[in-house]
Amino acid sequence: MATQLRAHDTADTMPLRDIDVTDPTIYATDSWRPWFARLRAEAPIHYTADSPFGPYWSISNHADIQAVEARPDIFSSSHVFGGITVVDMLGEYNLVQFIAMDRPRHGEQRRVITPSFGPSEIARMAESVRARTAELLDTLPYDTEFDWVDTVSVELTTQMLAILFDFPWADRRKLTLWSDWGGDIEAALNPATKDIRQQHLRDMTDYFDRLFAERKALPPSGDLVSLMAHSDAMGDMEYNERMGNLILLIVGGNDTTRNSMSGMVHAFHQYPGEWQKLVADHGKIPAAVPEIIRWQTPLSHMRRTCVEDTELNGHAMKKGDKVVMWYISGNRDESVFPDAERLDIARPNARRHLAFGFGVHRCVGARLAELQIQILIEEMLKRKMTVRVTGEPEYVAQSFVHGYKKLPVVIERH
Ligand code: HEM
Repeated sequence: MATQLRAHDTADTMPLRDIDVTDPTIYATDSWRPWFARLRAEAPIHYTADSPFGPYWSISNHADIQAVEARPDIFSSSHVFGGITVVDMLGEYNLVQFIAMDRPRHGEQRRVITPSFGPSEIARMAESVRARTAELLDTLPYDTEFDWVDTVSVELTTQMLAILFDFPWADRRKLTLWSDWGGDIEAALNPATKDIRQQHLRDMTDYFDRLFAERKALPPSGDLVSLMAHSDAMGDMEYNERMGNLILLIVGGNDTTRNSMSGMVHAFHQYPGEWQKLVADHGKIPAAVPEIIRWQTPLSHMRRTCVEDTELNGHAMKKGDKVVMWYISGNRDESVFPDAERLDIARPNARRHLAFGFGVHRCVGARLAELQIQILIEEMLKRKMTVRVTGEPEYVAQSFVHGYKKLPVVIERH
């Protein structure tokens, strides 16, 4: 059985070789920072021989993460080898989705959906995102405690995805339900819940199959479902691949953006002076957005698999080795981001963050996520909303999605 971090050891005292940063407790208790600081200082390329997910390499500094991402032919994303998380997605969990493919199939499918995130589509979506965000903010109470995660982050992200898919509005919370089940790896592994999860994912695929058929019968339009339905590379996918790619688009957009919106509130609560700068000058909002995403880093890692023996910065790696790139750590690398723990809305190089990855798989939804966050801040400031965190946040207890389950807040008028 694996050596997860032992309760009596601290990040400073544990033997380096025993460090296993997949341990969910360091995320559940928000105590991951010193573990990664130690790895960056002493072993930025580090080997854990024994973990619940088997042996794996940890890459924890900015430069080496980019070096791995820059060689996708050696460091594969393919689902054939287990995919893009430290958990192997093999056998019945094997999801065929283009984030977990290499070229050429990856590029063919990515090109189908890219136009949905192009400038004209983003401009089209901006209007709806703004209207929906304003509508939601107008329902929020001042001076009364509520949970920011469910009321704001989850709801706005779900709405954003519904706009992207041109999804039937009244049914939009189905997207939340499918995203929660689709992204829940624990539920997939648990015999008591795995059939329930599978049924939800079949419901999702069947629902989208009806939408695909409807949109295919209409002339092509810019929404994501229409683009997929009319394309060669995605128009006739097998059931399993349709399911995999739908989960990618729903979970990929959902668990991530929602946690930026929660992280944002938590970060400004800790650095109120940065919020005051935005209150004083709304022109600073666009530059603040990438810094918020860097600070939160909604996905802690992506994983690759070596397809041949190779070498990374002096470390010999074997064919089949699992290589985990810790974005959460690369974004705290002091050699790139001085005083990295601090939220600094004017950080000159915030755009160099790795939260969206880097290279051929870099997030296609990045612009949409940034837009949603920018609009949220603009609309909050218009309403003179300053948000104060009023209790302990509850964190997601796993090493892939990095985020919040609950964040109690009160809105005050500034
Ligand atoms: C703050 C919000 C977001 C974060 C932090 C985020 C993060 C990421 C990361 C780390 C990757 C993998 C990059 C790599 O392997 O190098 C990725 C890929 C992807 N993301 Fe996002 N994402 C966000 C929002 C979105 C949104 C709104 C969508 C749209 C539905 C989306 C859809 C995708 C897709 C389809 C991929 C696969 C790209 C590929 O393999 O070529 N993401 N994202």
